Amino acid sequence: MSNTFVIKGLEGERALHGSVAVTGAKNAALKAIAATVLFRDTVTLTNIPLINDTERMFELLKDMGAEVSNPKKGTYTVFIPQKFSSDLTPSIAKRMRASVVATGPVLARFGKVSFPHPGGCVIGARPLDLFVDGFEKMGAIVTMKEDRYFVEAKGGLKGAEFFLKNKSVTVTETFMMAGVLAKGTTVIKNAAMEPEIADLAAFLNTCGAKIVGVGTPTITIKGGKLLSGKGHTYKTMPDRIEAGSFLVLGALAARELHITNCNPAHLESPIEILRSAGVGIEVKKTEIIVRAPSRLMAVDIKTHEYPGFPTDLQAPMTVFLTQAEGESKVFETIFEGRLNYTEALASMGAQITMMDPHRALVRGKSSLRGRKLMSPDLRAGLAFVIAAIIAKGESVIHNVDTTIDRGYENIDSRLRAIGVDIKRAEIISENPIN
Ligand code: EPZ
Repeated sequence: MSNTFVIKGLEGERALHGSVAVTGAKNAALKAIAATVLFRDTVTLTNIPLINDTERMFELLKDMGAEVSNPKKGTYTVFIPQKFSSDLTPSIAKRMRASVVATGPVLARFGKVSFPHPGGCVIGARPLDLFVDGFEKMGAIVTMKEDRYFVEAKGGLKGAEFFLKNKSVTVTETFMMAGVLAKGTTVIKNAAMEPEIADLAAFLNTCGAKIVGVGTPTITIKGGKLLSGKGHTYKTMPDRIEAGSFLVLGALAARELHITNCNPAHLESPIEILRSAGVGIEVKKTEIIVRAPSRLMAVDIKTHEYPGFPTDLQAPMTVFLTQAEGESKVFETIFEGRLNYTEALASMGAQITMMDPHRALVRGKSSLRGRKLMSPDLRAGLAFVIAAIIAKGESVIHNVDTTIDRGYENIDSRLRAIGVDIKRAEIISENPIN
C-alpha cells in the first residue's frame, strides 16, 4: 500500500458535497474478533472494516491456530480449535494496542497466556498495570521475562470484584470477556461506558453469556461455559469516530454532506459542540446532514470518557477550531501525549499555544498553508488530512500506510467521491514536519 497522500487544498471554499457511508467501527470489530476465542464453534462476523488493524487481528489469531475464512467483503468466519496457542505472537501483537484484549479470552479458556507490551498509537504511556492487577485478582500468577508477560491460572480463572482506578475501554472489555468463562461472578466497577462495549456484550449475551450493567459504571458477569455462535451473526456497529471525523470535515468545507450508515445517538457531544459553533447539522435515524456556515464561532472542548467529547476526535476538532473566530481552549484529559501534533498544525499557519501537555489555546480564524507532514498516529493523521483539505496549496502527508490506513477503510477514494483532490503516492519522505 503506498505510503503518502498528496492533497490539493480547497483554500477555504465550501465545495464538498454528496454522501459518504460510514464503515463498521474499528474499536468494536477488533474486540469481536478477539471474542471468538470464547466460542466452542464457528462464529460469523459481518460489517468488519477492511483496515490494517482488523487484518492484523485475524493474522494474530490465525498465527495462534484459528481457522479463518473470508467468504465476502466484510464477512469472516472464525473457528478456534482445541490445538490453539496461548502465546500472542509478539511481532504481530506489538503493532497494535487492541491485541491486548485477546489476553482475557485466551487466559479464561486455556488457563494461560503470554503477550508482549502492545504497541499502537504513541499518545501516552499506555500502561498495563490494571491488566496485571485484574489477572491476579482472578487467581492468576503474572511473571515478566524480557518484554513479555506470562500469565497462568491453574484450575482456571475465578470471578472477582475490582474497581478500575482509571476508566479504560480495553481493560473493561478484557475482563468482561474473561468473566464469561471464569468460575463464579466477576464485577467490574468504574467500568468504561463506550458504545463499543455494549455492542460486544449484546453479541456475547445472544450467544450464551450473562453480562449485565454495560453502559453503567458497574458490569456484572456470571461465568459459564464456552459460547455458541450457532444461528447468530455479529454485525459491527457504525464507526462513531469515522462519522465524527467526516462531520468535522463537512462542518468546515461542505456545501451539503450526507453521512450515512451512522448512529447519530453515539455523537451527541460532537454534534452539540459543532452546533454551538454555528454549524448547520440535521440528524436523521442513520444519517447526519452537515452544511458549513460562512462563519464559525470559537468553542472550548474538553475530552472525556463516553458520553463526553471523544478523545479520538480531539485532533480533528482542533483543526476545526483554527477556523473559528476567537479563542478556543482544548483540554485533553485522557492521554498526556495527544496534543503533540499541534506543532505541525502551527507550521501550516494555525495559531496554537500549548499551555501544558494536556491543554492548548487555539486562536482563529487563521488561514492554513499546505505543507509536507508526517502522520504521527491514526487520529492526528486524519486531522492532518482535514487541515490539508481546507488549506491553500498542496500538502504531502507521509506515513499514511502505518497510521491512517490502520483505521479508515479506503479513505482516499471516499474523500475523492465527495469532492476532495487527494491522490495516493509512493514518496520517500525528506524531513517532513510531524
Ligand atoms: C480505547 O483505548 C481506544 N482503543 C482508544 O482509541 C480510545 O482513544 C480510548 O478507548 C478512549 O475512548 C481501543 O479500543 C483499541 P488505554 P483504552 O490505553 O481506553 C489508563 C484509537 O485511536 N490505563 O487503556 O483502552 C491509561 O493510562 C485509539 O482508535 C491504566 O492506568 O486506552 C489511560 O488513562 C487510541 N492502566 C486510560 O486508562 C492500564 O493498565 C485509557 O488508556 C491501562 C490503561
